[in-house]
Order: sequence, then C-alpha cells, then structure tokens
Amino acid sequence: MLASQLQKLGKPVSAGHKTGSQLKQFFRKLCDGTKVSTKETSVSASQKIFDREDKFGAHNYHPLPVALCRGKGIFVWDVEGKKYYDFLSAYSAANQGHCHPKILKALKDQADKLTLISRAFYSDVLGEYEEYVTRLFGYDKVLPMNTGVEGGETACKLARKWGYAKKKIRENEAKIVFVEGNFWGRTLAAISSSTDPSSYAGFGPYMPGFNIIPYNDLKALEEALKDPTVCAFMVEPIQGEAGVVVPHDGYLKGVRELCDKYNVLWIADEVQTGLGRTGKMLAVDHENVKPDILVLGKALSGGVMPVSAALANDDVMLCIKPGEHGSTYGGNPLGCKVAMAALEVLEEENLAQNAEKLGAILRSELSKLPKDKVSIVRGKGLLNAIVINKEFDAWEVCIKLMENGLLAKPTHGDIIRLAPPLVINEDQLRDSVEIIKKTIRFPEAINSQD
Ligand SMILES: Cc1ncc(COP(=O)(O)O)c(C=O)c1O
Repeated sequence: MLASQLQKLGKPVSAGHKTGSQLKQFFRKLCDGTKVSTKETSVSASQKIFDREDKFGAHNYHPLPVALCRGKGIFVWDVEGKKYYDFLSAYSAANQGHCHPKILKALKDQADKLTLISRAFYSDVLGEYEEYVTRLFGYDKVLPMNTGVEGGETACKLARKWGYAKKKIRENEAKIVFVEGNFWGRTLAAISSSTDPSSYAGFGPYMPGFNIIPYNDLKALEEALKDPTVCAFMVEPIQGEAGVVVPHDGYLKGVRELCDKYNVLWIADEVQTGLGRTGKMLAVDHENVKPDILVLGKALSGGVMPVSAALANDDVMLCIKPGEHGSTYGGNPLGCKVAMAALEVLEEENLAQNAEKLGAILRSELSKLPKDKVSIVRGKGLLNAIVINKEFDAWEVCIKLMENGLLAKPTHGDIIRLAPPLVINEDQLRDSVEIIKKTIRFPEAINSQD
C-alpha cells in the first residue's frame, strides 16, 4: 500500500540501497546534515522507512508518506533532504519550535547530572519546578506526570477523591460529566468518555460513572450538574482533535458559574489548547476564568519528552495521600528542567501574543479561499482548521500540500487542522498561506472523489 501511495505521487519505487548497514549510514548522513549525492537520495530511502514501520510496528496510525529526520523551528526535513513547513507541530507539542536551543541546553545540562530518581527520595530539581509552575499558573500545588492522558487520569482521580472526601458522595457513586466529541487520549478511562467509535469500539467494557452531554450547551450542563453525585465536569476549552471546535463566547464563564453553583469541580483539559497555542497562555484566559483542576501536557516540554501536569489548590490536591497515585517518571529531574525552559521560552519570546496576531492573519487569508472548496475556516490563535467541501478528499489535499512543502493532516475526514509552531513569523506565515492557497485554488491540485 505504501509503494502504491508513492506511485500515486508519481515517484519511482526503486530497489535502491540493499543492505541494512548501507541504509543506516545513509540515514545518519542525512540526519547529521552531511551532503549526500543526488543519486543516493532516491525515493527508496523513504520507501524503506515506510516498509520497515509497516512490517515491525503496530498499525495504529496512518501517516502521510513522508519520512522525517530533522527539525528546526517551524521546519522539518525528510530523508531526501526536502524541507517542509510543519503545520501540525507534533499535535501542538512543538509550540516553541523544533529543537529549541534553550530547551535542548536544559536537557543536555541536566542529562549530564541526573535524569531520574525514585520518588522514594527528594531531588534538588522537583521543588524548584513545582514552585515555578504553580506560581506561573496560580495554583497551590502540581502533580507531575508524563503524557497528556495521564494528566487527565490524574485529574479524574483527584476529582473522585475530592467527591468522596469533601462533597460527601456515597462510596463508588461519584460521576464525572464529559462532552460529546471530547478527546483526551487512549487509555480505557479516556475512551470510556469518547463518542468517537474509532476510539472506543471493540474495547469495552467501559468505565462506569461517566456521563456525556453535548458540547457548548450550558442548559445540558446545568441539568447534568443537578445530580448530587457529580464530582466534576471535564472539558477542553476548544476541542482540538474533534476538528478545532470553538464554543460560543461566554461558554467557559458559564461553565465556571454552574460548577460553582452545584459544587462541582471544573477540570479544564488544556493539553492541546494551553501554553500559548490559542493566543493566550491558557485558552481559559480568553474569558478570564480559572478551572479547579488544570491539565497540561504536550508543549510543557516543547516537544522534547513527555511531561504533563495536573494543577489544583490544596482543598483538592491534598485529598490524595502518599501511595495513592504516582508514576515512575513523573517529576523526573530531566523533565522538570526541560519544562521550566519550555515555559520560559513561551514567555521570553511572547509566543502567545505572536499566536494571537498571526492566527488572525491566517484566518483572514484562508477565508478568501473559494467557498466551493473550503466551506469553513475556524480557530483561535494558531489552533485552526479548514473544512474541505465534501466532494473533495482532505487526504488528497494534504498529499498535495506535502508535495508543495507544507505538512498537515486531516482529522474526521473533511477537516484539516492548521497549527504551526508558535515561533513562525509573518513572512513565513504568508509564504505558508500562499502554499495552501495555491494547493487549494488549482483544480488539478485536488483530486475530486469522483
Ligand atoms: C486535549 C487533549 N488531551 C489529552 C491528550 C492526550 O495526550 P497524550 O497523547 O500525550 O496522552 C490529547 C492528545 O492529543 C489532547 O489533544
């Protein structure tokens, strides 16, 4: 199938490099930035990579046919040496740009000293990070984890504990309310709250105590919160994986008010929307509201390693006692140093402000695209999406974008998310817009499905 994808792109699928060691040497040269001859950079280098992943890796992703080996700022390079704008930013983990020098320096410096200890001991870094991150976001305490989904799991566990200890919900009866279209990862708890069959189907039985209501619907929320066994409402301020779905102005304020009224914790999943992505440090800052539990991940390490966090005040956080939650790597010195550097970069380089300014230009330019091809342009800051008219194939559009030097990926069939690293400047953004316009305007650039 991968060979046929390449053939579709008009690229030859040659035998190319024969031995494994020749291949290794070739990739090393490319990734070191060493010059390789044009003869050496045959398409077979990519093909070998596709085939190897296909053969030895689980088939749980469906990547575009491009094999990357280097990244710097807003750009990535494939093994043939071709340069691309990265408009996916590692699903918003690389907000600070690929391989940011300050973050890499923090990584290297700490890697030489101490990378991981058992949480049976103290380290000289964890407290420094905890103080830094809690002061920055205005919470009493942080619980450090690794992946975004672990941050979400932590928030749900905290909420249940709080529900029993403080709200006095009867044992094993606590409920958490979620919304349709939510995405917070792939664990059994996360998929139990999902309304997307490709996430949950075939993986039952599901977690009890989860209720699902429509997104962006305060009336439905109020009805759900009247149930006295509800301990929390978990929501993304903008739904990322669902296709950048932005709720109406006032929704987040309404959520805050209703959660206060019914004594329910509000968990904001800012794993994708947080850390400058939407034009503010947090997406909830657009409405000046503060969740009871804030979940962060992805760009918390600037795309360098898995670092996530759940932040809350003492009333909630101290419900969990020693031995009741944790993770071997959570709060490791390496991750803590990397996270502090990643957060400093966001502030020092004014990345939220840049996202706000350039996001407005991006949406304004994209809304000039022909309506018969792009029916909707939406987003906030540099978290944006276009909806491709049904008669065109969003996958094919992404293939053409790739050929034209810009990487983006469809989500839910007809939606293409456009989310470059926040370090992009105006000239680069306008250049990217030209690529998108050119790709979408020229009819031959998009293969109609029929
Ligand atoms: C809003 C949101 N929450 C949680 C997650 C899960 O993060 P991770 O893949 O690091 O577990 C994601 C991942 O895309 C996300 O978009």
